[in-house]
Amino acid sequence: MDVVIAPTGVDVGRIAADLITATVQGSADAVLGIATGSSPLETYRELARRVADGVVDLSAVRAFALDEYVGLGSDHPESYRSVIRREVIGPLRLTADLVQTPDGDAPDLDAACARYERMIRDAGGVDIQLLGIGANGHIGFNEPLSSFSSRTRVATLTAQTRRDNARFFESLDDVPHQCVTQGIGTIMDARCLVLVADGERKAESVARMIEGPVTDTCPASALQLHPHAVVIVDESAARILTPSQRYDRRTPVSGVAR
Ligand code: GLP
Repeated sequence: MDVVIAPTGVDVGRIAADLITATVQGSADAVLGIATGSSPLETYRELARRVADGVVDLSAVRAFALDEYVGLGSDHPESYRSVIRREVIGPLRLTADLVQTPDGDAPDLDAACARYERMIRDAGGVDIQLLGIGANGHIGFNEPLSSFSSRTRVATLTAQTRRDNARFFESLDDVPHQCVTQGIGTIMDARCLVLVADGERKAESVARMIEGPVTDTCPASALQLHPHAVVIVDESAARILTPSQRYDRRTPVSGVAR
């Protein structure tokens, strides 16, 4: 695991954007794994700037989102399909037809999950997967005790995740109880993982992911088993990392070849 400690959340986004830019410059139709939540927003802002400046063109990129709530229509403003349209497809000038988000209101959710797995496989797999981390160590919506070999499936959100995400809804009661999420096994199949985190709120889960044992009580600790995982955190999120295990500040040099 390559751990990069950056001064601020803006720097975190810039370094993650460097990795994604390098991947797309190496292959214009690279397959990106995209995430929702606040953590990747600086990365998207930086990528949007680069697209606007003509530094990189993302129009041929194919993309797969990690997860979706069950039961929110695709037009609900907080469905991840809406969020991805608003925060990713538009600003990054992606081609909408090349971007997939799990369908959380399909009549047959299990069949939709299996179809999503097939789509990722048929695209040749994910080249570079952007991830955030939940305060309880979840990745995607893989809550503690999710199997490391899990695939895209319907899952139940913990009370903590529902409370954490209530800020996006009018009330806690409006936060769905269930979701569709890529499994930890699905995420681990990506050729490169880039996890971004900033702020004090993430310090504990970041320390457990990096320094704790590999355990299903901290789903993000699975990244310790990945051959090409880069974790980029700001100083606040790195606050309780053991000083003797801290790396010097450094910037990873390249993306990943396909
Ligand atoms: C959400 C998403 C995750 C995200 C996490 C952290 O529940 N499903 O993919 O990483 O929560 O969110 P945030 O970045 O807003 O703290």
